Amino acid sequence: MSFEQEGFVRLYHDRAEIKPPLHVQKHLRVPGDKSISHRAIMFASLAEGDTHVHGLLLGEDIQATKHMFEAMGVTMELQEDRLLVHGVGMDGLLAPKHVLQAGNSGTTARLMLGLLAGQDFFSVMDGDDSLVRRPMARVVEPLRMMGAKISGVSDGRYLPIAIQGVKPLRPLFYTLPVASAQVKSALLLAALYADGESCIEEKVPSRDHTERMLQAFGVPVLMKEGRICMKGGAKLHTPGMMEVPGDFSSAAFWLALAVMHEDAEITIEHVGVNPTRTGFLEVLQTMGAQIEVKPSVSSTDKVVEPVATLIARTSSLIATTVEGDVIPRLIDELPMLAVVATQARGRTIIRNAEELKVKESDRIQEVALRLQAMGAKIQPTDDGWIIDGPTPLRPAQLPPSSDHRMVMAFSIAALIAKGDEPTIVHAPSVAAISYPSFYEELKNF
Ligand code: S3P
Repeated sequence: MSFEQEGFVRLYHDRAEIKPPLHVQKHLRVPGDKSISHRAIMFASLAEGDTHVHGLLLGEDIQATKHMFEAMGVTMELQEDRLLVHGVGMDGLLAPKHVLQAGNSGTTARLMLGLLAGQDFFSVMDGDDSLVRRPMARVVEPLRMMGAKISGVSDGRYLPIAIQGVKPLRPLFYTLPVASAQVKSALLLAALYADGESCIEEKVPSRDHTERMLQAFGVPVLMKEGRICMKGGAKLHTPGMMEVPGDFSSAAFWLALAVMHEDAEITIEHVGVNPTRTGFLEVLQTMGAQIEVKPSVSSTDKVVEPVATLIARTSSLIATTVEGDVIPRLIDELPMLAVVATQARGRTIIRNAEELKVKESDRIQEVALRLQAMGAKIQPTDDGWIIDGPTPLRPAQLPPSSDHRMVMAFSIAALIAKGDEPTIVHAPSVAAISYPSFYEELKNF
């Protein structure tokens, strides 16, 4: 069948073949926020009583978190995208009988290390080939300061890691050396089990979903001038129901497509627009992108995160410099931003993003390699890229990647790559880590 008969995406189990559509007119919702979904399962499990979590992401990373709690005696019932969690209380987790598997999920691994440090049992955690290469010392070192007994590969710098929890932990006063919400959240989870007040200081603000959710579960958290303070020993009270908004990081793919494509309008409803997450939106707007933000009014009082409808259209883009405090607020969107920058007039410089090297893959090198294969003018640097544009992208056979955000960002790039051949993106199924319905959506323009 030809592309014209079949549409512009052909999906096989090992690859997607993608050509650009002439027009893009789309109205959609994206699945629940990944960061918030992890935290919803964690806090609902530790709470007294039942919590109904609505709009949960059912991606593979979230399944890893869910399975860990089930392995520690928490029961949950799944009805479509609703999860009913029967909380066991702060002291109700049971020692797992087997190794806990974090799979590909850095958020599961790091946050759970913090939580396991405060349990009075022994546990072992492992991850997949990508996760065992990612740094864990940033969490392990401060947890050891709190008294946790942790050993693992290279003295606990990498998974697999064994944790002999200690109750109570010592309180911690700590300044984060890297802007990381995963590290901050791990330490806040451990601080729940400390015998006194802990304070975590961040030089650059990172996503604050943990702080918001702790408060939604009734834990007093003091936030002032970059310092987050909390007393250990609090009980978590279920709010009964919580709603997970659509994932801004998933919406980012569609925003990028709309602003780069020459005839497009995409509306995305019910997207989480927590300001610690929306750096990509701000940068696109600075680049001249036509994006409207219509804040939604919530029908319940159970939404602890701001939500909006986003409408993005074909835009004429100009280059910019992206650096400093905005980086943690768009860290996961940087591969997509690099693609967008190839379509902007002038030189875009992205710097201070060395964290990209220790994500699910070395995203600095992997993005540069693929964009160069598509004809873009991009130079990788130590902490980002230099990109000259605009350059029309051409179709390419892209090298395989097991990194979900790379695979999705380059499927979007393929939708603007003009030529006779389609672009080949291998292993499309890895999108299921954070966005299981991504290719369904792509096929349904
Ligand atoms: C996340 C924090 C970020 C982000 C990741 C999710 C979280 O990681 O890249 O996808 O849920 O806390 P870092 O904290 O390592 O920057």
